[in-house]
Amino acid sequence: MAVITNIDDLKRLHKKRTPKMFYDYCESGSWTEQTFRENVSDFDKIRLRQRVAVDMEGRSTASKMIGQDVAMPVALAPVGLTGMQRADGEIKAARAAEKFGVPFTLSTMSICSIEDVAEHTSKPFWFQLYVMRDQEFLKNIIQRAKDAGCSALVLTLDLQILGQRHKDLKNGLSAPPKLTPAVIADLATKWTWGLEMLRTKRHGFGNIIGHAKGVDDPSSLFTWTAEQFDPRLDWGKIAAIKEMWGGPLILKGVMEPEDATMAAKVGCDAIIVSNHGGRQLDGALSSIRALQPILDAVGDQVDVHLDSGIRSGQDVLKALAMGAKGTFIGRAFVYGLGAMGEEGVTKALEVIQKELDVSMALCGRKTIADLDRDMLKIPEDFAGRWA
Ligand SMILES: Cc1cc2nc3c(=O)[nH]c(=O)nc-3n(C[C@H](O)[C@H](O)[C@H](O)COP(=O)(O)O)c2cc1C
Repeated sequence: MAVITNIDDLKRLHKKRTPKMFYDYCESGSWTEQTFRENVSDFDKIRLRQRVAVDMEGRSTASKMIGQDVAMPVALAPVGLTGMQRADGEIKAARAAEKFGVPFTLSTMSICSIEDVAEHTSKPFWFQLYVMRDQEFLKNIIQRAKDAGCSALVLTLDLQILGQRHKDLKNGLSAPPKLTPAVIADLATKWTWGLEMLRTKRHGFGNIIGHAKGVDDPSSLFTWTAEQFDPRLDWGKIAAIKEMWGGPLILKGVMEPEDATMAAKVGCDAIIVSNHGGRQLDGALSSIRALQPILDAVGDQVDVHLDSGIRSGQDVLKALAMGAKGTFIGRAFVYGLGAMGEEGVTKALEVIQKELDVSMALCGRKTIADLDRDMLKIPEDFAGRWA
């Protein structure tokens, strides 16, 4: 058994054990992947201030996200096709999150359905909504999330159309995969994945097959998004969805202070500063660079969360010390899932929590509430001087 000490270890195992099509789907950004790369590399530019002779006994990473208790302010981000990374992947990830005490967010484009995840977990999870053109489908899925007891709606704003990720087109991404000679040759080296998949019935988009009408190829993410996603989503529609849902609302994909101000006006509980992990607008700033101006604009009105590029507890610490109230991880937990199933997701969370805890201690801080900007050394030109 490999000794796992960091998220990169899980990523290596994920690559080895998961069909290329799904590993590539995870490990891609759009077009040149500039934003995807900078999401990670910009975290490295921020440094921490080492402090000494501070009593570090009695530390805790516990905190709250949108008023809900969390073991650490790190939620699992919504990730489409998680159930293709590993059989029943959404259920496995949700169970790991539940046991650890952090929120799990189920994607609209998941393989396991809302009802399925609810049936196999015992605590409320969060549901991520993509807005479809079909109003009946929209009403139904919001009602299904309510009926399943979901405790927040995460409305994603940055994917009315799908950013192009070259590898997905080249690999012919679909769920389930089409058995071309290249796919069969690849699966021949991924036995555990294949055997687990044979034992489950969950192979298609569980939330939408049987609920949405008029899709030409139900296995294709590209077809779903092109035919079903509503390109007309605007602030009026967001306000209407807030009414329909009536519970805690998180708006995901905000990168500019103007949009953050609009989000605060709509009356959401939190926003997520996110560029979708570099998968949508290539050339956008990294989310950690985008954070400060948004905090300045709305930090006193809504909780500001952040995702995109987090690969360690130190990255989490940097975002929180800058002023974010919570963070989300996407790929970091998917690597764990692809590597070792539920146990791997738990491992990813443990690694991140330990890195967060030790780094807090070495910076002389004991609780999440103690974290502040004073712990960081941020290059003077970090935000950039853009004309
Ligand atoms: C494979 C993959 C699938 C994703 N699917 C969704 C999705 O269905 N809905 C959504 O709102 N965001 C989706 N995202 C974006 C994540 O929620 C999150 O914003 C992103 O992964 C954060 O960046 P990170 O992976 O660097 O942590 C996806 C990300 C990845 C990597």
